Parts: sequence; structure tokens; C-alpha cells
Amino acid sequence: MVSTILFVLCYLALVQEMNCEPNIVYKMKNIECHTDPKYSTNASCRVMAINWNKSVANMDVDLVKPLKNISLQLQLFKKDYTNKYQPFLVNVWMNICSILSRQNFLPYGVIVLKVTKSFSNFNHTCPYEGHLFARGVYLEEQFLPNNLPLGYYRINVKVFETSPITLDYVGEIAGYVNAMEPIKTKKKNKIPSSQDN
Ligand SMILES: *[C@@H]1O[C@H](CO)[C@@H](O)[C@H](O)[C@H]1NC(C)=O
Ligand SMILES: *[C@@H]1O[C@H](CO)[C@@H](O)[C@H](O)[C@H]1NC(C)=O
Ligand SMILES: *[C@@H]1O[C@H](CO)[C@@H](O)[C@H](O)[C@H]1NC(C)=O
Ligand SMILES: *[C@@H]1O[C@H](CO)[C@@H](O)[C@H](O)[C@H]1NC(C)=O
Repeated sequence: MVSTILFVLCYLALVQEMNCEPNIVYKMKNIECHTDPKYSTNASCRVMAINWNKSVANMDVDLVKPLKNISLQLQLFKKDYTNKYQPFLVNVWMNICSILSRQNFLPYGVIVLKVTKSFSNFNHTCPYEGHLFARGVYLEEQFLPNNLPLGYYRINVKVFETSPITLDYVGEIAGYVNAMEPIKTKKKNKIPSSQDN
């Protein structure tokens, strides 16, 4: 897949501390969480605007019972000209417990590893229990292929607790992101709300 190859190239460039072209910013517009009460409660997901180019997400959840073997389904959707989100390039499964214990190094697993390391308290090996939080989460071009077309995207992460024979729905995060050219600085900018379009 082209995006995977681009991602790997971009990631290697990052590792060598070169910069991928900073010509796109991924601004988070909104975030939604759904959780199954069997596994968790007190879920909260919010977006906070930092400036015209950037906003960050904060997330909290209390687990009702520990998660021991977590599978994620990561899907990308792009808004089309009729304003509907259509599947776009990415639809992958990964076991986050094996990623965090470094048993595998899938390209998208590396993204998850970087994001959890940088922003959350679930930066350790499984199981997860108690209060989980993430602070100041944002996407930057180095996490992703740098040529995603401009436009509006939905990034969907479904979380499952897995056994050799079952796949149990735990919850879901949907992040709405605008891939856009950075806003040029002007003197009289107002801080935009997280919902502006
Ligand atoms: C959910 O939040 C309430 C109020 O803060 C707290 O008393 C309760 O213990 C939380 N639930 C869990 C499972 O932590
Ligand atoms: C994991 O996150 C917590 C809370 O942000 C932090 O205090 C801790 O140092 C982090 N641990 C690792 C191994 O990064
Ligand atoms: C953990 O999840 C994987 C799927 O991601 C599954 O193949 C495996 O059997 C599970 N292991 C245990 C011990 O439940
Ligand atoms: C947005 O990002 C561009 C490029 O990084 C920068 O030149 C500009 O000052 C930023 N604008 C704001 C309001 O932060």
C-alpha cells in the first residue's frame, strides 16, 4: 500500500531527524467516545483549540475490569463531495498488547506506540486497569503519510478484548480531523472554537 510505504519512509526520515515537508497540518475538529458499560465507565473525550493550526484531545475513562489482550481496528474515512465519510486506504487490525510488549513492529503499530508513549498513562505493557487518560493528543505529519489529500477525515479506533475464540467490544473513539495547509499568521487572529469549519 502506497500510504504504508510513504509512512515508513517518513518514519525513517524522522528517526534520522530530518523533517518531512511541513506543508500539511492535521487539525482535530472533534472527538467522540463510546464505551460498553460492561468494561468501562466515566468516559470523556474533549478537543481543545490551541491555535489556528492545532488543537489537542484529552481523554479519560475508568475501566470496570482489566483489559488483558486488546485488539484495535484502525479505520480511516474521508469526507466526499456529498458530505459522507467513505472508507479511505486504512483498515487494519493490531494487537496493542503485543505492540507495547514489542512483540511486533507493524507500521501502524509504531504510530500507536508513539502516540501512547507521548500522551497517555497507558504507556506500559498489558493488562490495563483503573483510570486511563490521554492528554494533549494531536496528530502531526510525521505520524502519517505526508501526502494525505487535503480534506476532512474521520479516524476510527475500535477497541476489543480478545481471547483465542472471542472478540468482545470494549469501546470506540472517532476523531474528526481537517488535513489543511497551515494558516498564515496575521496580526488580528481570533482563537477558533473546536467546532469551527
Ligand atoms: C466514576 O466516577 C465516579 C465519580 O467521580 C467515581 O465515584 C467512580 O468510582 C468512577 N467509577 C470507576 C469505575 O472508577
Ligand atoms: C507513562 O506515563 C506516565 C503519566 O504520563 C508518566 O509519569 C511515566 O513516566 C510514563 N512512563 C513511561 C515508561 O514512559
Ligand atoms: C490475544 O489476541 C490475539 C488476537 O489479537 C489472539 O490471536 C490470541 O489468541 C489472544 N491471546 C490470548 C491469550 O487470549
Ligand atoms: C500555523 O502554522 C504555520 C506553519 O507552521 C505558521 O507559520 C503559522 O504562524 C501558524 N499560525 C498560527 C496562528 O499558529
